[in-house]
Amino acid sequence: MMIQMLCAALLAAATSPAVVPAPQEMKVNEGTYSLKAETLERKDCRYTLDKSLPKEGYRLSITAGGIAVASADEAGRFYAEQTLRQLGEAKDGKLSYPRVEITDFPNFGWRGALLDEGRHFFGKETVKGMIDLMAYHKMNVLHWHLTEDQGWRIDIPGMPELVQYGSWRKESPCHGAKLKSYGNFRYESSALNGQKYGPFYYSEADLREVVAYAAARHIRVVPEIDIPGHMCSAIAAYPHLTCFPENVKERSARSDWGISTDVLCIGNDETVRFVERVFDFICDVFPSEVIHIGGDECPRINWEKCPKCRERMKKEGFTKAGQLQGWITRHIAVHLAKRGRRIMGWDEILADDAPKTAIGQSWRTQSGNGAGTALVGGAEAARLGYDMVMTPHTETYYDYYQGLTDDPFQYPGGMIPLKRAYAFDPCAGVVPEARKHILGSQAQMWSEYIWNEYDLQWKMWPRACAMAETLWTKPEKKNFDCFMKRMEIHRRRLIGMGVNCAPLR
Ligand code: ACM
Ligand code: ZN
Repeated sequence: MMIQMLCAALLAAATSPAVVPAPQEMKVNEGTYSLKAETLERKDCRYTLDKSLPKEGYRLSITAGGIAVASADEAGRFYAEQTLRQLGEAKDGKLSYPRVEITDFPNFGWRGALLDEGRHFFGKETVKGMIDLMAYHKMNVLHWHLTEDQGWRIDIPGMPELVQYGSWRKESPCHGAKLKSYGNFRYESSALNGQKYGPFYYSEADLREVVAYAAARHIRVVPEIDIPGHMCSAIAAYPHLTCFPENVKERSARSDWGISTDVLCIGNDETVRFVERVFDFICDVFPSEVIHIGGDECPRINWEKCPKCRERMKKEGFTKAGQLQGWITRHIAVHLAKRGRRIMGWDEILADDAPKTAIGQSWRTQSGNGAGTALVGGAEAARLGYDMVMTPHTETYYDYYQGLTDDPFQYPGGMIPLKRAYAFDPCAGVVPEARKHILGSQAQMWSEYIWNEYDLQWKMWPRACAMAETLWTKPEKKNFDCFMKRMEIHRRRLIGMGVNCAPLR
C-alpha cells in the first residue's frame, strides 16, 4: 500500500508539469503565474549568479511574484530557459506557468548524439534542427561523423580532390525488402539503385557556421575523421594513400555498406603527412578540445602484405600488423596534443596502447575480455583509467528497430524499443572507483538506413528523450512509468514543433 501511494505521488509529481529530462528536485506549489505575453523574454526573469551551484546547474523559482533563475554559469541559465520553455503554456495572449521550485543539474557531463553524414548527407539546416532539439533536451555534445567509405563531407583548402572524388558515389543500396527470418523488421537488399548520390559536402564556412550555431546553444561539436579504416572516399581522391593503389578501380566513394579492406597504408610517410594535414584543418575549424579519430573496423590484411607497412613494422619492432594501428593512433595523439587537443576513438584504439589521455568510446557488444556483456569492455577500460563514453550498440544505436508495428521506415536490424533505451545505464558493470571515468553517452544515429530528416527524427525521438533523461537525471530519480506519463504530453509538444516523433511504444 505504501509503495502504491509512493508511486502515485511520484507519478503525480512527475506528470504535472511534464519536464523532460526530469529535474533532480521539483516542488510544485498551488497556483500559477501568468505573463501578459505569448513569449518569454530574458527581462521577464530575475537572474542571479550563484557560484555555489554545480556546473550547468540552475535554480528556478516561479512564485506569485514572478520568475527567478540562479546559476553558476551561462549554460545553467540556458538550461533553466529550456525548462521554462517546457513549463509555459501559451493561451489567449498569456503565458501561464505552474508555481515550482526546481533545483537541477546534470548527472553526466557528456550528453551527446552522433550524426553520421558519411552514408547519407543531411545538410546544415537539418543539423541545426537537430542541434535545437538536443539543446531543448539539455544535451551538449554533437559527435559529427564527417568521413566514411561512402562519402567525404568536408572541403579542405588545398586538397580539392577529397570532395572532387570522395563526396559522391555512383549508386547506393536499394531500399531493402523485409527479411522474415529477422522477426520481420530487418531490411536488406544486395541490389544497388543505379542513382548517383552526391556530390554532397560542407565548405569551411558551413562548418564554422554549424560550430557557432551549436556553441550558442551550449553544444560542442566533436568532429570525427575516421582513420585508418573507413577511408575509401579519401583513397578515391588519393589512391597512393593505400597499400595497393593498383586495386583502386573506382575514383568515387564506395557504393555499398559494410567494411572495406582498403585502408590507409601506415608504412607510407605521405599517408602520415596527409592525416596530419587533415587534422590540422580540423583543429583550425573546430574549437573542441576533443577530436575523434575513429579507429573502428580496420582490417589489417593489406598491412600484412604491404612492403611499406612491413618496413615500418620492422623499424618499430612490431610482431603483428595490428600494432600499426596503435602506432598511427599514438602519432596523431602527439600531433594533436601539440595543438592542445585530446584524441577520442572507438574502443578498438584501446586494444593497442592508446595513450591514457585518450577518451575511449565503447560500442561493441563483445566485452573485449570474453565476458560477453555489452559494457564489460568499456567498464574494464574505465577500471584501467581511460575516460569513456559508453555507447554499446545494443542500447544506444537508435538506427536500430524500435519495435513499432507498421513502421514505415527501414532498419538494419537490432532492437531498441523505448523501454530498453530508457533502461540503459552507462555505469552498469563499472566498479565504483572507476565511475568517475564514465563521461556519459550518446544517441547514435548511423545513417545507412536513414534517408532524410523525417526518417532521422522518427528514429531519434522519442528514444533520444530517454537518453537525455538517462544522462541528465540521477538514476535513483528515473522511473519509466513517470517518464511515459510525461512523454504523452511532451511528444505532443514535439509534434507541435514539427518534429516527426515516433509513437510511444
Ligand atoms: C561502429 O559502429 N563501427 C563504431
Ligand atoms: Zn601499407
